[in-house]
Amino acid sequence: MKIGAQRTLDSRVKRALILVVMVAGIFGCERSAKKASSQLPLIPETDPLAQPKSLQQVGVPVAMTRGVIPADNPQTPEKISLGQKLFFDRRLSADATVSCSTCHDPALAFTDRKPTSVGIRGRVGQRNAPTVLNALYNKTQFWDGRVNTLEEQAALPIVNSVEMGHTSLDAAVAQIAAVEEYEQAFRNVFRRPANSPDLMRAIASYERTQLSFDSPFDHFIAGDKNAIDESAKRGWELFNNQARCNKCHALTETTRDVTNLIDNDFHNIGVLIVKHNVVPLARQAEQLVKTGDTSAIDQAAIQTEMSALGRFLITKKEPDIASFKTPNIRNVLVTGPYFHDGSQETLWDVIDHYNKGAGLQDPYLDQDIQPLALTENDIDDLVAFMASLTSPNYKEQGATELARQRAIARTTRPQRDTARAFGPKPPRPAPPK
Ligand code: HEC
Ligand code: HEC
Repeated sequence: MKIGAQRTLDSRVKRALILVVMVAGIFGCERSAKKASSQLPLIPETDPLAQPKSLQQVGVPVAMTRGVIPADNPQTPEKISLGQKLFFDRRLSADATVSCSTCHDPALAFTDRKPTSVGIRGRVGQRNAPTVLNALYNKTQFWDGRVNTLEEQAALPIVNSVEMGHTSLDAAVAQIAAVEEYEQAFRNVFRRPANSPDLMRAIASYERTQLSFDSPFDHFIAGDKNAIDESAKRGWELFNNQARCNKCHALTETTRDVTNLIDNDFHNIGVLIVKHNVVPLARQAEQLVKTGDTSAIDQAAIQTEMSALGRFLITKKEPDIASFKTPNIRNVLVTGPYFHDGSQETLWDVIDHYNKGAGLQDPYLDQDIQPLALTENDIDDLVAFMASLTSPNYKEQGATELARQRAIARTTRPQRDTARAFGPKPPRPAPPK
């Protein structure tokens, strides 16, 4: 017991040091390192997996990480600490039952591992909760990119009636400011009483400490040829060639992306679109979101069948019907189920989906979706590559999850269609008039 306690203490001290280094050294905060460390003690006693992460991980894009800190919201230890408390505080919801961490739980790689999220009073939404890990690098937030910054993002779940259920941001601020410790903390950090823009700034600051690299793949890219096995190496080749994943999961089609595996763009990849009758839905949506009001779009995306329209809800451009943001696939092994609606249980299902060129009845399907002729061995290799993107914090969970998914995939392959996977690229129907 004692040794354990000592170790926890040591690791806590270490983490505090990392935080000081990270904030004072690399992000270049406003005050001197010495002063910052003397004011540090605010890290709450939560899950070690919730703590701010080190910039010393193999694979961290240091310049990019520095570059995503907005000029009007510099990182300071006190602000990060306040944001961390708020992220885990259920008092941020109307009846004090739901926190950000309810749906973005560090123990579950900052997701909820549910197909779609469950908020206040057990209300179920339409979308799968993405991880907050590495969300700092996203050019847009949410599956449909309806806002750009983490500050703008944080405001929406608080007032969404199936998530945290407040009637207004002011109501949320009042509930938080009634807690003496918070009122003090806001005054310390921002030199003024609690208010909603500062609340969002604090939460976003905390989220910007959640970088997750140091995976076997990062070590492989850094030069350790034995960091991943032969299967994962073949998977990485397939990813950039025959399997065409790099058409979207890379910044450009010609350069391999080893950092976030995204193109900052939106695509219709045929996820369950046939289930939805999108044309009438689109007409309905045009009426509803005519105003361009973010909060109206938020309600439509989370609470209604219009959720399936994806990016169209924001741009109202027909080619964007059922387009969703290319997600970062780091730690993807431990953030399932998959896709914006959580419709796929395993990574084998995801690849079966791509392999057959799913959604070919869908007139808005991305041109880059086509049958891939991947063999069963190829599919295993692609899964092995994706599994190698798991950070050390989730290594054991990843091993268990890989075994679980593999066992399911041996017997249950709802998306598999070998004939289609090895068939020609069929013609696409024209969009309806
Ligand atoms: C009831 C569950 C729930 C709660 C509570 C919740 N979220 Fe989310 N979060 C989601 C879902 C679902 C999405 C995706 C919604 C969409 O794309 O339309 C999401 C999206 C996000 C994203 C975008 C990530 C990306 O890759 O695009 C961030 C960041 C985020 N949430 C942070 C927060 C913060 C901060 C809070 C607390 C203020 C919070 N969430 C509260 C479920 C939740
Ligand atoms: C045409 C662009 C495109 C191509 C090609 C593509 N993806 Fe995707 N990927 C996306 C988009 C967009 C999503 C989100 C779609 C949704 O949820 O509706 C996605 C989702 C995923 C997910 C689910 C992630 C999560 O968090 O739910 C995985 C895993 C994935 N892709 C892996 C791959 C692999 C492996 C390949 C190659 C076989 C590939 N992708 C090819 C655009 C693409």
